[in-house]
Amino acid sequence: MARYLVTGCAGFIGSHLTEKLLETLGANGDVIRGLDNFETGKRENLAELLNRIEFFECDLRDAAAAAEACRGVDYIFHVAARPSVPRSVKDPRTSHTANIDGTFNLLEGARAAGVRRIVYSASSSAYGNQPGFPRVETMVPMPIAPYPVQKLAGEFYMKSYWQVYGMETVCLRYFNIFGPRQVPDSPYSGVMAKFALQMMRGERPTIFGDGEQGRDFTYIDNAVSANMLAMAAPAEKVAGRVFNVACGERHSLNKTFRILAELLEFNEEPIYGPSRAGDIRNSLADISSAREALGYQVTVSFEEGLRRTVEWYKRQYSEVAMR
Ligand code: UD1
Repeated sequence: MARYLVTGCAGFIGSHLTEKLLETLGANGDVIRGLDNFETGKRENLAELLNRIEFFECDLRDAAAAAEACRGVDYIFHVAARPSVPRSVKDPRTSHTANIDGTFNLLEGARAAGVRRIVYSASSSAYGNQPGFPRVETMVPMPIAPYPVQKLAGEFYMKSYWQVYGMETVCLRYFNIFGPRQVPDSPYSGVMAKFALQMMRGERPTIFGDGEQGRDFTYIDNAVSANMLAMAAPAEKVAGRVFNVACGERHSLNKTFRILAELLEFNEEPIYGPSRAGDIRNSLADISSAREALGYQVTVSFEEGLRRTVEWYKRQYSEVAMR
Protein backbone atom coordinates (compact mmCIF):
# COMPACT_ATOMS: atom_id res chain seq x y z
CA MET A 1 0.00 0.00 0.00
CA ALA A 2 1.28 3.45 -0.89
CA ARG A 3 0.05 6.90 0.08
CA TYR A 4 -0.21 9.67 -2.52
CA LEU A 5 -0.61 13.34 -1.67
CA VAL A 6 -2.14 15.84 -4.09
CA THR A 7 -1.51 19.44 -3.07
CA GLY A 8 -4.16 21.82 -4.35
CA CYS A 9 -6.69 18.98 -4.63
CA ALA A 10 -9.65 21.41 -4.64
CA GLY A 11 -8.32 23.33 -7.61
CA PHE A 12 -9.06 22.90 -11.28
CA ILE A 13 -6.13 20.63 -12.13
CA GLY A 14 -5.74 19.07 -8.67
CA SER A 15 -9.35 17.89 -8.49
CA HIS A 16 -9.16 16.20 -11.89
CA LEU A 17 -5.94 14.50 -10.89
CA THR A 18 -7.39 13.34 -7.56
CA GLU A 19 -10.37 11.89 -9.38
CA LYS A 20 -8.11 9.96 -11.73
CA LEU A 21 -5.98 8.66 -8.85
CA LEU A 22 -9.05 7.37 -7.05
CA GLU A 23 -10.13 5.63 -10.23
CA THR A 24 -6.83 3.97 -10.97
CA LEU A 25 -4.94 3.63 -7.70
CA GLY A 26 -7.64 3.59 -5.06
CA ALA A 27 -8.60 0.07 -6.10
CA ASN A 28 -5.20 -1.32 -5.06
CA GLY A 29 -5.67 -0.26 -1.46
CA ASP A 30 -3.51 2.80 -2.01
CA VAL A 31 -4.48 5.85 -0.01
CA ILE A 32 -5.03 9.25 -1.59
CA ARG A 33 -4.49 12.30 0.56
CA GLY A 34 -5.30 15.81 -0.58
CA LEU A 35 -4.63 19.25 0.80
CA ASP A 36 -5.95 22.68 -0.04
CA ASN A 37 -6.27 26.08 1.62
CA PHE A 38 -9.25 27.13 -0.55
CA GLU A 39 -7.53 30.36 -1.50
CA THR A 40 -8.28 29.64 -5.15
CA GLY A 41 -9.57 26.05 -4.87
CA LYS A 42 -13.29 25.41 -4.47
CA ARG A 43 -15.09 23.24 -1.94
CA GLU A 44 -17.56 22.12 -4.60
CA ASN A 45 -14.71 20.50 -6.55
CA LEU A 46 -14.29 18.11 -3.63
CA ALA A 47 -17.97 17.21 -3.32
CA GLU A 48 -17.56 13.76 -4.87
CA LEU A 49 -14.09 13.17 -3.46
CA LEU A 50 -14.09 14.22 0.16
CA ASN A 51 -15.29 10.95 1.68
CA ARG A 52 -12.83 8.95 -0.42
CA ILE A 53 -9.62 10.79 0.48
CA GLU A 54 -7.73 11.87 3.59
CA PHE A 55 -8.23 15.61 3.45
CA PHE A 56 -6.05 18.24 5.12
CA GLU A 57 -7.23 21.84 5.03
CA CYS A 58 -3.85 23.48 5.21
CA ASP A 59 -1.79 26.28 3.78
CA LEU A 60 1.69 25.33 2.61
CA ARG A 61 2.99 28.69 3.83
CA ASP A 62 2.70 27.08 7.28
CA ALA A 63 5.81 24.89 7.49
CA ALA A 64 4.52 22.78 10.40
CA ALA A 65 1.23 22.09 8.62
CA ALA A 66 3.08 21.18 5.44
CA ALA A 67 5.28 18.74 7.35
CA GLU A 68 2.23 17.20 9.02
CA ALA A 69 0.53 16.70 5.65
CA CYS A 70 3.63 14.90 4.32
CA ARG A 71 3.90 12.43 7.20
CA GLY A 72 3.38 8.86 5.98
CA VAL A 73 3.33 9.91 2.33
CA ASP A 74 5.28 8.09 -0.39
CA TYR A 75 4.50 10.13 -3.50
CA ILE A 76 3.43 13.74 -4.04
CA PHE A 77 1.79 15.57 -6.91
CA HIS A 78 2.55 19.22 -6.13
CA VAL A 79 -0.17 21.08 -7.96
CA ALA A 80 -0.96 23.74 -5.34
CA ALA A 81 -0.09 27.26 -6.43
CA ARG A 82 -1.49 30.74 -6.53
CA PRO A 83 -1.92 30.82 -10.30
CA SER A 84 -2.24 33.62 -12.82
CA VAL A 85 0.32 35.92 -14.36
CA PRO A 86 -1.70 39.15 -13.89
CA ARG A 87 -2.54 38.30 -10.27
CA SER A 88 1.18 38.04 -9.57
CA VAL A 89 1.77 41.38 -11.29
CA LYS A 90 -0.84 43.03 -9.08
CA ASP A 91 0.19 41.35 -5.83
CA PRO A 92 3.58 39.67 -6.17
CA ARG A 93 4.13 39.09 -2.46
CA THR A 94 1.05 36.93 -1.90
CA SER A 95 1.93 34.86 -4.97
CA HIS A 96 5.54 34.68 -3.87
CA THR A 97 4.75 33.26 -0.44
CA ALA A 98 2.30 30.71 -1.85
CA ASN A 99 4.45 29.60 -4.76
CA ILE A 100 7.99 29.79 -3.43
CA ASP A 101 7.68 29.48 0.35
CA GLY A 102 4.87 26.95 -0.08
CA THR A 103 6.94 24.80 -2.41
CA PHE A 104 9.98 25.01 -0.15
CA ASN A 105 7.94 24.03 2.93
CA LEU A 106 6.51 21.08 1.05
CA LEU A 107 9.97 19.92 -0.02
CA GLU A 108 11.24 20.14 3.54
CA GLY A 109 8.20 18.25 4.82
CA ALA A 110 8.70 15.64 2.11
CA ARG A 111 12.38 15.26 2.95
CA ALA A 112 11.62 14.69 6.62
CA ALA A 113 8.92 12.14 5.69
CA GLY A 114 11.20 10.25 3.26
CA VAL A 115 8.93 10.90 0.26
CA ARG A 116 10.17 9.04 -2.78
CA ARG A 117 8.97 11.12 -5.70
CA ILE A 118 7.40 14.53 -6.33
CA VAL A 119 5.80 15.45 -9.64
CA TYR A 120 5.71 19.24 -9.75
CA SER A 121 3.31 21.38 -11.77
CA ALA A 122 5.61 23.89 -13.46
CA SER A 123 4.70 26.55 -15.98
CA SER A 124 5.58 27.14 -19.60
CA SER A 125 5.44 30.85 -18.83
CA ALA A 126 9.04 30.32 -17.64
CA TYR A 127 10.18 30.47 -21.29
CA GLY A 128 9.08 34.10 -21.48
CA ASN A 129 9.52 35.98 -24.73
CA GLN A 130 12.79 34.51 -25.86
CA PRO A 131 13.05 33.88 -29.59
CA GLY A 132 12.77 30.35 -30.92
CA PHE A 133 9.80 28.06 -31.44
CA PRO A 134 8.81 25.48 -30.53
CA ARG A 135 9.92 25.70 -26.92
CA VAL A 136 12.38 22.96 -25.98
CA GLU A 137 13.28 22.16 -22.39
CA THR A 138 16.96 22.86 -23.03
CA MET A 139 16.27 26.55 -23.81
CA VAL A 140 17.39 29.08 -21.22
CA PRO A 141 14.27 30.26 -19.35
CA MET A 142 13.51 33.99 -19.54
CA PRO A 143 10.58 34.58 -17.22
CA ILE A 144 8.99 38.03 -17.31
CA ALA A 145 6.29 38.39 -14.65
CA PRO A 146 6.63 37.37 -10.98
CA TYR A 147 4.49 34.24 -11.42
CA PRO A 148 6.79 32.54 -13.95
CA VAL A 149 9.79 33.51 -11.82
CA GLN A 150 8.14 31.82 -8.85
CA LYS A 151 7.22 28.67 -10.75
CA LEU A 152 10.74 28.48 -12.14
CA ALA A 153 12.24 28.85 -8.67
CA GLY A 154 10.14 25.83 -7.71
CA GLU A 155 11.66 23.88 -10.61
CA PHE A 156 15.18 24.72 -9.49
CA TYR A 157 14.32 23.65 -5.96
CA MET A 158 12.93 20.38 -7.31
CA LYS A 159 16.13 19.71 -9.26
CA SER A 160 18.23 20.62 -6.26
CA TYR A 161 16.41 18.13 -4.01
CA TRP A 162 17.10 15.41 -6.55
CA GLN A 163 20.77 16.31 -6.86
CA VAL A 164 21.44 16.97 -3.19
CA TYR A 165 19.07 14.62 -1.37
CA GLY A 166 18.23 12.03 -4.01
CA MET A 167 14.51 12.75 -3.86
CA GLU A 168 13.07 11.86 -7.27
CA THR A 169 11.56 15.06 -8.60
CA VAL A 170 9.98 15.58 -12.00
CA CYS A 171 8.81 18.95 -13.37
CA LEU A 172 5.96 19.28 -15.84
CA ARG A 173 5.77 22.59 -17.67
CA TYR A 174 2.09 23.05 -18.49
CA PHE A 175 1.03 25.00 -21.53
CA ASN A 176 -2.34 26.74 -20.94
CA ILE A 177 -4.38 23.91 -19.48
CA PHE A 178 -8.14 24.32 -19.93
CA GLY A 179 -11.28 22.30 -19.32
CA PRO A 180 -14.22 21.75 -16.97
CA ARG A 181 -13.98 23.37 -13.50
CA GLN A 182 -11.60 26.12 -14.53
CA VAL A 183 -12.93 29.19 -12.71
CA PRO A 184 -14.67 31.37 -15.32
CA ASP A 185 -15.75 34.41 -13.35
CA SER A 186 -12.65 35.89 -11.76
CA PRO A 187 -10.64 38.72 -13.30
CA TYR A 188 -7.77 36.21 -13.24
CA SER A 189 -9.60 33.38 -14.98
CA GLY A 190 -7.99 31.53 -17.86
CA VAL A 191 -9.12 33.00 -21.14
CA MET A 192 -11.06 29.97 -22.36
CA ALA A 193 -13.27 29.69 -19.28
CA LYS A 194 -13.75 33.45 -19.11
CA PHE A 195 -14.79 33.80 -22.74
CA ALA A 196 -17.16 30.81 -22.55
CA LEU A 197 -19.05 32.28 -19.61
CA GLN A 198 -19.12 35.77 -21.10
CA MET A 199 -20.54 34.44 -24.35
CA MET A 200 -23.17 32.44 -22.48
CA ARG A 201 -24.18 35.62 -20.69
CA GLY A 202 -24.37 37.47 -24.01
CA GLU A 203 -21.45 39.73 -23.05
CA ARG A 204 -18.77 40.63 -25.60
CA PRO A 205 -15.38 39.32 -24.43
CA THR A 206 -12.36 41.61 -24.54
CA ILE A 207 -9.27 40.46 -26.37
CA PHE A 208 -6.14 42.07 -24.93
CA GLY A 209 -4.01 43.20 -27.88
CA ASP A 210 -4.63 42.28 -31.52
CA GLY A 211 -5.67 38.69 -30.79
CA GLU A 212 -2.86 37.27 -32.88
CA GLN A 213 -0.98 36.14 -29.78
CA GLY A 214 -0.93 32.35 -29.70
CA ARG A 215 -1.08 29.65 -27.07
CA ASP A 216 -0.56 25.89 -27.06
CA PHE A 217 -3.93 25.33 -25.38
CA THR A 218 -4.00 21.90 -23.72
CA TYR A 219 -7.06 20.03 -22.51
CA ILE A 220 -6.97 18.93 -18.88
CA ASP A 221 -6.97 15.16 -19.55
CA ASN A 222 -3.56 15.51 -21.19
CA ALA A 223 -2.12 17.16 -18.09
CA VAL A 224 -3.60 14.47 -15.84
CA SER A 225 -2.16 11.72 -18.00
CA ALA A 226 1.29 13.39 -18.01
CA ASN A 227 1.21 13.41 -14.20
CA MET A 228 0.34 9.71 -13.99
CA LEU A 229 3.06 8.83 -16.48
CA ALA A 230 5.64 10.97 -14.69
CA MET A 231 4.87 9.24 -11.41
CA ALA A 232 5.16 5.78 -12.95
CA ALA A 233 8.23 6.24 -15.17
CA PRO A 234 11.59 4.74 -14.15
CA ALA A 235 13.69 7.20 -12.14
CA GLU A 236 16.62 6.98 -14.54
CA LYS A 237 14.44 8.42 -17.28
CA VAL A 238 12.74 11.23 -15.39
CA ALA A 239 14.32 12.18 -12.05
CA GLY A 240 15.66 15.73 -11.96
CA ARG A 241 14.19 16.48 -15.40
CA VAL A 242 11.72 18.97 -16.87
CA PHE A 243 9.09 18.11 -19.49
CA ASN A 244 6.77 20.22 -21.60
CA VAL A 245 3.12 19.16 -21.36
CA ALA A 246 1.12 20.48 -24.30
CA CYS A 247 -0.37 19.53 -27.64
CA GLY A 248 2.42 20.92 -29.79
CA GLU A 249 0.07 23.30 -31.66
CA ARG A 250 -0.27 27.05 -31.56
CA HIS A 251 -3.75 28.61 -31.74
CA SER A 252 -4.30 32.34 -31.95
CA LEU A 253 -6.74 34.00 -29.61
CA ASN A 254 -8.76 35.29 -32.57
CA LYS A 255 -9.18 31.74 -33.87
CA THR A 256 -10.03 30.39 -30.42
CA PHE A 257 -12.63 33.13 -30.01
CA ARG A 258 -14.23 32.17 -33.34
CA ILE A 259 -14.44 28.45 -32.47
CA LEU A 260 -15.92 29.19 -29.05
CA ALA A 261 -18.40 31.65 -30.60
CA GLU A 262 -19.52 29.02 -33.08
CA LEU A 263 -19.95 26.34 -30.42
CA LEU A 264 -21.92 28.75 -28.23
CA GLU A 265 -23.82 30.38 -31.10
CA PHE A 266 -22.50 33.78 -30.11
CA ASN A 267 -22.81 36.18 -33.03
CA GLU A 268 -21.07 39.32 -31.83
CA GLU A 269 -17.54 40.54 -32.35
CA PRO A 270 -14.97 40.76 -29.53
CA ILE A 271 -13.87 44.08 -28.07
CA TYR A 272 -10.16 44.77 -28.60
CA GLY A 273 -8.31 46.38 -25.68
CA PRO A 274 -4.70 47.18 -24.80
CA SER A 275 -2.22 44.31 -24.35
CA ARG A 276 -1.84 42.99 -20.82
CA ALA A 277 1.29 43.79 -18.79
CA GLY A 278 3.61 40.84 -18.29
CA ASP A 279 2.03 38.77 -21.08
CA ILE A 280 4.08 36.68 -23.44
CA ARG A 281 3.30 36.89 -27.15
CA ASN A 282 3.39 33.26 -28.20
CA SER A 283 3.78 29.80 -26.86
CA LEU A 284 4.25 26.52 -28.66
CA ALA A 285 5.80 23.37 -27.23
CA ASP A 286 8.06 20.66 -28.48
CA ILE A 287 6.66 17.60 -26.72
CA SER A 288 9.15 15.03 -27.96
CA SER A 289 10.96 14.70 -24.60
CA ALA A 290 7.71 13.84 -22.83
CA ARG A 291 6.87 11.40 -25.62
CA GLU A 292 10.22 9.65 -25.36
CA ALA A 293 10.75 9.57 -21.60
CA LEU A 294 7.16 9.33 -20.35
CA GLY A 295 5.34 7.75 -23.26
CA TYR A 296 3.16 10.86 -23.25
CA GLN A 297 0.61 11.29 -26.03
CA VAL A 298 -2.05 13.86 -26.70
CA THR A 299 -5.19 11.98 -25.71
CA VAL A 300 -7.69 14.82 -26.28
CA SER A 301 -7.12 17.30 -29.10
CA PHE A 302 -7.61 21.07 -28.88
CA GLU A 303 -10.89 20.96 -30.84
CA GLU A 304 -12.33 18.01 -28.91
CA GLY A 305 -11.23 19.64 -25.66
CA LEU A 306 -13.05 22.83 -26.61
CA ARG A 307 -16.23 20.89 -27.36
CA ARG A 308 -16.10 19.06 -24.01
CA THR A 309 -15.36 22.27 -22.16
CA VAL A 310 -18.23 24.15 -23.75
CA GLU A 311 -20.63 21.27 -23.02
CA TRP A 312 -19.58 21.34 -19.37
CA TYR A 313 -20.00 25.10 -19.00
CA LYS A 314 -23.38 24.87 -20.70
CA ARG A 315 -24.53 22.26 -18.21
CA GLN A 316 -22.98 23.96 -15.22
CA TYR A 317 -24.03 27.50 -15.92
CA SER A 318 -27.29 26.95 -17.75
CA GLU A 319 -29.22 29.05 -15.21
CA VAL A 320 -26.81 31.90 -15.84
CA ALA A 321 -27.27 31.55 -19.57
CA MET A 322 -31.05 31.72 -19.14
CA ARG A 323 -30.89 35.07 -17.35
C1 UD1 B 1 -1.72 30.60 -18.45
C2 UD1 B 1 -2.05 30.19 -17.05
C3 UD1 B 1 -0.81 30.16 -16.19
C4 UD1 B 1 0.20 29.24 -16.84
C5 UD1 B 1 0.46 29.71 -18.27
C6 UD1 B 1 1.36 28.75 -19.01
C7 UD1 B 1 -4.32 30.71 -16.34
C8 UD1 B 1 -5.21 31.69 -15.66
N1 UD1 B 1 -3.04 31.08 -16.46
O1 UD1 B 1 -1.23 31.94 -18.50
O2 UD1 B 1 -1.12 29.69 -14.91
O3 UD1 B 1 1.38 29.26 -16.12
O4 UD1 B 1 -0.77 29.73 -19.00
O5 UD1 B 1 0.77 27.54 -19.12
O6 UD1 B 1 -4.72 29.63 -16.71
N2 UD1 B 1 -6.73 37.27 -22.56
C9 UD1 B 1 -7.61 38.12 -23.23
N3 UD1 B 1 -8.76 38.47 -22.61
C10 UD1 B 1 -9.10 38.03 -21.35
C11 UD1 B 1 -8.20 37.15 -20.69
C12 UD1 B 1 -7.01 36.80 -21.33
O7 UD1 B 1 -7.35 38.56 -24.36
O8 UD1 B 1 -10.17 38.39 -20.86
C13 UD1 B 1 -5.48 36.89 -23.26
C14 UD1 B 1 -4.24 37.21 -22.46
O9 UD1 B 1 -3.85 38.54 -22.63
C15 UD1 B 1 -3.27 36.20 -23.05
C16 UD1 B 1 -4.14 34.99 -23.41
O10 UD1 B 1 -5.48 35.48 -23.44
O11 UD1 B 1 -2.67 36.71 -24.21
C17 UD1 B 1 -4.06 33.85 -22.42
O12 UD1 B 1 -4.25 34.41 -21.12
P1 UD1 B 1 -4.54 33.50 -19.82
O13 UD1 B 1 -5.64 32.55 -20.09
O14 UD1 B 1 -4.67 34.42 -18.66
O15 UD1 B 1 -3.24 32.59 -19.72
P2 UD1 B 1 -1.67 32.91 -19.68
O16 UD1 B 1 -1.38 34.29 -19.18
O17 UD1 B 1 -1.12 32.48 -20.98
